[in-house]
Amino acid sequence: MNILVIGSGGREHALCWAIAASPLTDRLFCAPGNGGITQVAECLELDSGDADAVIAFCRDRDIGLVVVGPEGPLVAGLVDRLDDAGIKAFGPSAYAAQLEGSKGFTKDLCASNNIPTAAYGRFTDAVSAKAFASDMGAPIVIKADGLAAGKGVIIAESIEEAEKAIDEMFAGRFGEAGAEVVVEEFLEGEEASFFALVDGANALAMATAQDHKRVGDGDVGPNTGGMGAYSPAPVMTEALCQRVMDEIILPTVQAMAAAGHPFKGVLYAGLMITEKGPELIEYNCRFGDPECQVLMMRLMSDIVPAMLASVDGVLDNFDLRWREEAAVSVVMAARGYPGSYGKGSRIGDLAEASADEDIEIFHAGTRREGDDILASGGRVLNVTALGANVTKAQQRAYEAVDKIDWAEGFCRRDIGWRAIEREAGKT
Ligand code: AMP
Ligand code: GLY
Repeated sequence: MNILVIGSGGREHALCWAIAASPLTDRLFCAPGNGGITQVAECLELDSGDADAVIAFCRDRDIGLVVVGPEGPLVAGLVDRLDDAGIKAFGPSAYAAQLEGSKGFTKDLCASNNIPTAAYGRFTDAVSAKAFASDMGAPIVIKADGLAAGKGVIIAESIEEAEKAIDEMFAGRFGEAGAEVVVEEFLEGEEASFFALVDGANALAMATAQDHKRVGDGDVGPNTGGMGAYSPAPVMTEALCQRVMDEIILPTVQAMAAAGHPFKGVLYAGLMITEKGPELIEYNCRFGDPECQVLMMRLMSDIVPAMLASVDGVLDNFDLRWREEAAVSVVMAARGYPGSYGKGSRIGDLAEASADEDIEIFHAGTRREGDDILASGGRVLNVTALGANVTKAQQRAYEAVDKIDWAEGFCRRDIGWRAIEREAGKT
């Protein structure tokens, strides 16, 4: 079968790497791809916002499955268009993708189905949003309703800060995404990411992970797209995973099906493990980046039949096998990120750094020029390693990082620290 992957990040490199290993894959294409993806797929320019062009390409190349990586084209309805054209596509419809595309939509779904989540209000004007915030008291969380590239959430430590955030959102700081604002209770606990593969009616728990959003060691500094991740997340015991399935994932899948808009694809629950148990912070309707990189590293089963089973609605009785080992992925970013950074520097010694079979270097912002790999974005490489536990996997990942010749890059030095403290028996 010929397969097309849409996207250009480390997540899509990891997906292409896993898909290329499947005996079911004949030709693998990636649009637009990046410098690393060229090793496992044929990369091409194709505007994912132009569904007609994607459909024409799929017909021309006899594509049997399209895998949509990022949320943008999912929320915009690319899967609906492919579906109408009779082309199999992995991922949710535009309606179902509202689980990520509209925070208010998800909060209302939680409220109607008793899914544990922070208390909230939805607002379209500043006066009522501020009144609600001041009733709830600080700290309080202010969110733009729509997609804001992970930036539309403000944790306000005081009511003054909350009021400022509300004013800024309604003034258009996040554009259309902030036309509606959700104000919600601040949850305390440890965060974890939980991934389930869903086929409209059935959900299969995949694996757990944690990511590090802040740019600096010790989880300080500005938020980023993610500076590293590890899997499994030790906070997620088997009993907690079962509660997440029973109390959060399955009621969501059932509610979407009952509404006539079954969810298919990857349901990614951002969780807060509070004293009361797991609560939903937010849903994403696709794999996390860089969480996908550690999941693909641990996945032993062929991912292609799993994706096809999700599309075809036959995930019941399906099983996925995972390595016992832990995986750690360290993001190398261009100096200056998440602020402004330079582009075009050459990255050397990548082959040497990834020679060990327990190391994979997934590319994000890179491009290939002849034999050279050049940095072309903020987050550039995801140096990913397997190990007997998170401590060992982290050690291996940093050994590989240290072999890479790229003076213009930097990384955090503490990816996985919570798990490593647990493994050392400190918490
Ligand atoms: P999001 O962009 O929705 O992933 O939110 C970004 C981050 O904000 C999350 O990963 C949490 O760390 C934090 N956050 C969001 N909502 C809450 C909440 N209700 N309570 C505490 N922290 C939150
Ligand atoms: N790693 C967070 C995300 O993919 O949204």
